[in-house]
Amino acid sequence: MEHVELMISEEDINRRIAEIGKQITEDYKGKTVHMICILKGGAPFMCELAKRVDLSVSLDFMSVSSYGSGTDSSGIVKIVKDLDEPLIGKDVLIVEDIIDSGRTLSHLTEILNARKPASLRLCTLLDKPDRRVVEGLKVDYVGFQIPDEFVVGYGLDYDQRYRNLPYIGVVRFD
Ligand code: IMP
Ligand code: MG
Repeated sequence: MEHVELMISEEDINRRIAEIGKQITEDYKGKTVHMICILKGGAPFMCELAKRVDLSVSLDFMSVSSYGSGTDSSGIVKIVKDLDEPLIGKDVLIVEDIIDSGRTLSHLTEILNARKPASLRLCTLLDKPDRRVVEGLKVDYVGFQIPDEFVVGYGLDYDQRYRNLPYIGVVRFD
């Protein structure tokens, strides 16, 4: 079996989400933020973040899978569940759990930009900058930058497990 070693505590995550929520509230003043959750990992983060944004907010959900083997995504994104609402004219904020190579979000922003939103920004709970292979991906809101470790919790899974942990941890195999 394996065990999970604490990396970022629930208190630190909640504090950081409140900060990002405040920043988004300032940045989008007078607008409606259309938050798009990338399922499944982005769900716990988006739920907490949406509660910290003191503006008009609408929510939508999308599920994508990237073709590729093992832990390396190919960047060819297949839409498994598409959005319910059109994006035209909306101020869209994509909410992700983690950016690794950046391939998924890079391809996804291309697809969503083609739907002509008024604006499109990216928000991720975690970022592993050392793993980036895509150039020029601009991430507007980052919760925490973390080292190149495989993490779980707060939406992130290992084999579909651990998404429910209220903290971020590293999987250790004993
Ligand atoms: P990429 O940025 O296209 O390489 O892929 C990002 C996706 O890979 C994320 O949305 C996660 O689903 C998955 N992923 C990357 N790193 C981790 C990790 O440390 N733990 C769990 N899932 C991860
Ligand atoms: Mg994901």
